[in-house]
Order: sequence, then C-alpha cells, then structure tokens
Amino acid sequence: MSTRLVAPSLLAADFANLQRDIDMVNQSQADWFHLDVMDGVFVPNISFGMPVIQAIAQYTQKTLDVHLMIIDPDRYIKTFADLGSHNLTVHIEACNHLHRTIDAIKQEGMKAGVALNPHTPVSLLEDIIQNVDLVCLMSVNPGFGGQSFIENTYSKISALKTLIERKKSNALIEIDGGVSATNAKQLVDTGANILVAGSFVFKSGDPAATISTLKEKIS
Ligand code: DX5
Ligand code: ZN
Repeated sequence: MSTRLVAPSLLAADFANLQRDIDMVNQSQADWFHLDVMDGVFVPNISFGMPVIQAIAQYTQKTLDVHLMIIDPDRYIKTFADLGSHNLTVHIEACNHLHRTIDAIKQEGMKAGVALNPHTPVSLLEDIIQNVDLVCLMSVNPGFGGQSFIENTYSKISALKTLIERKKSNALIEIDGGVSATNAKQLVDTGANILVAGSFVFKSGDPAATISTLKEKIS
C-alpha cells in the first residue's frame, strides 16, 4: 500500500502547554510533527521563532516536518538542520532559485519539500519534481489554522500524481489545511501520502483519539 501518514500541526496546540501536547503526539499514532514557521511577510501572520522551535525539538520523538512560510528561506536552511529538522519545505512562490534551494536543503542532510499555494499550478513542478522528496499542496491559503478546505485540491492531487509517475519521481504528496475525518479518505484515495491536521486534532475533546480516527480513515 502507498505511504499514508498523519502529521499533526503544532500551530493549533496549546502554546501554554506545549510540552504536554508534544508528549501527547509522541504517544499517539501520529507519524510526524508538522511545524509551521511564519514570518509576517510571506503570510500575514507570525507563528514561532527559533527559541521556541529549539524548545519543541528537544521533546519531539518523531519526524520533524518543518513548513517554512517565509521569504528568502535560504538564509535559515542550516539553522533548521542544526535544530534537528528532518524535512524542510519551502514555498515555490518564495524562491527565485528553487533548484539551488532544494540542493542546499539536501546538502544539510534533510529531505527537501516544496509547497504550492492554492493558486499555484502543479505544472510549475515539471522541471523540479525529480529533485524533491515531498510536495505540499496547500488546501487553504497559508497563514492561519482552522480554515475551510478548498475542494479544487483534489484535481491538483490527481495532476501531481500523474506528473510524479510520468517523471518517475519519488516525491510524496502532503496535504495541508482543512483536513478532517470527513475528507481524509478521499484525499488518500486520490493520491495523498501525508495529511497535516491542526485544528481538527487539537481542538477536539480527545486529540490522541482524533489522531487514531484519522489513521483509521486512511488505513
Ligand atoms: C496553514 C498551515 C497549516 C495549518 C493547518 O498556514 O500551513 O499547517 O496549521 O491547520 P488546520 O488543520 O487547522 O487547517
Ligand atoms: Zn503547514
């Protein structure tokens, strides 16, 4: 069966009880931690900076999947490697020299991801898909948790899957934004490999059980 993973987004965690929420994810059926880094420039919001990320990374016992929603991400590639990131995803809309950026991420020993905003066509990946380990399709406009899933994402997954197969790429497809138990199965059935879920997990009464529910839906 294809790779099918759940990656809770700490953006929706209780920041006053981060260690508790990280431990919950460590002990849950979740596969990865998803960490949203926002600079207030590329997106109209600021999430957390290096001291907080360093504190988080001390406790996470699963793959640390970092999603950079920042301009000029090249400046911070080494910093994120040193912090213990396993995957580093940059936005195609924020990179003038994406090929170089992807190379630099891999040089630092991390998996390299590229994220696409909802308006950005999959066809722009034609000449980079063989070089990336992961493509993150934004299914909401980045910047905030708790937004509604954009239905056009399904056709983007199909287009991306076709491109990956045609180019014989090993890239995994990650979906980020508005993921819930309602759309999880259809997303993986369409070709998604990793589902990021923030609000649906952390705003639920029993986040660990909600993670199990998502895993069940996609198994
Ligand atoms: C949005 C972030 C997402 C966000 C998802 O800019 O990239 O990872 O945390 O949150 P939900 O699951 O609440 O849409
Ligand atoms: Zn994200």
